[in-house]
Amino acid sequence: MTFITDIVSKNVHQTQVSAIKDMAMLSAKIKGATSLTWGLPSFRTPEYIRQGVKQYLDEDIDAGKYTLPDGLSELRELVVTEHQEKTGIKVDADENVMISAGNMQGLNTLFHTMLDPGDEIILTDPCFASHIQQINLFSGKAVYWPLDEDNNWALDIDLLPDLITDKTQAIVLVSPSNPTGKIFSEDELIRVGKIAKQHDILIIIDDPYSEFVYDNSSKYFNLASVEELKEHIVYLYSFSKSYAMSGWRLSYMVMPAELKREALKVHDATMICAPRISQLAGIVALSQPSNHKQEFETILKSRRELICQRLDNVPDVFSNQIPEGAYYVFPKIIAAHTSSKEFAIDLLNKAKVAVTPGSAFGPSGEHHVRMAYCVDEDTINLAFDRIEDFFR
Ligand SMILES: Cc1ncc(COP(=O)(O)O)c(C=O)c1O
Repeated sequence: MTFITDIVSKNVHQTQVSAIKDMAMLSAKIKGATSLTWGLPSFRTPEYIRQGVKQYLDEDIDAGKYTLPDGLSELRELVVTEHQEKTGIKVDADENVMISAGNMQGLNTLFHTMLDPGDEIILTDPCFASHIQQINLFSGKAVYWPLDEDNNWALDIDLLPDLITDKTQAIVLVSPSNPTGKIFSEDELIRVGKIAKQHDILIIIDDPYSEFVYDNSSKYFNLASVEELKEHIVYLYSFSKSYAMSGWRLSYMVMPAELKREALKVHDATMICAPRISQLAGIVALSQPSNHKQEFETILKSRRELICQRLDNVPDVFSNQIPEGAYYVFPKIIAAHTSSKEFAIDLLNKAKVAVTPGSAFGPSGEHHVRMAYCVDEDTINLAFDRIEDFFR
């Protein structure tokens, strides 16, 4: 204990660096380790975006300046068009749209705006690990809604009403899901929407993966396309994955006007605005046609086949269900182990393969690991050659 321990806030003490980054940092220290931890796509930001940004840098004398806190109006107008094309819902660029620096920052702004100590947010279990930490950071309470593993991690709607209390502020949904890859069905999502509306709680849709649905596009349903739920939904779209722009830190939020007015205070007080250069990249991304998303999806689809095949070859180590979307597998550990964390650390130290322990994604994630297959095929093959050797 030092004076630093004393001055650090309780909230930060009870927050952890996500196990995804923890494992990535550990594996970076092990020479020759191969990593399936981080959902960082191997793709380069598409050429047309890079060229467009170069042009802005040369010709736009304002390119290096702040923007208004909710972002460049040209980008917000493009978001309005994009959102209408995707959902059929017409929103207003000034009233409803805010540009954020990645969905993590957008969610951070939202939780900061919404949470008083002890307020509750319902997270699917398993869920994205950082949602848990973000809620801790604002003294909120993560309430876990267990998914149905036997049904490839579907929503179990019957459990939801009992989780709602007078402290519940919101339900967070990610579909296709990280870490399970599950695409929640239209019927289930509509039922969640009805329950949320009935209890006057928000649904927060965190969407980095809706463009990676492979042969399941007919299953994908965007709940933000339901007009009657417009006042109960915040939709966050990230450019990180489908535009390979994770380092640019760019996303947008579409939300009820009153909430935007409140969230803007937080956004302004914490970061002023998303980086202008990234917003300009967003303008290029949304205003020019490109088929890179189909190309990414085709490549990811074959990586999904590969990783599922390799998992099937080690039935004594893992039992896997084929993920429907996103780019993660979440197999159950069959090999002898005590906890997913111990298993992951052992695998890294002894076989030089980094995976993320499932316990990071909530209690139901224990005894599983998450593997990201957005890395190239050689990395997947090397990781599984080592896993096969290690368990042989
Ligand atoms: C569910 C989910 N939300 C948010 C993020 C982070 O997105 P961004 O880069 O837009 O902050 C990720 C990244 O892996 C994610 O899987």
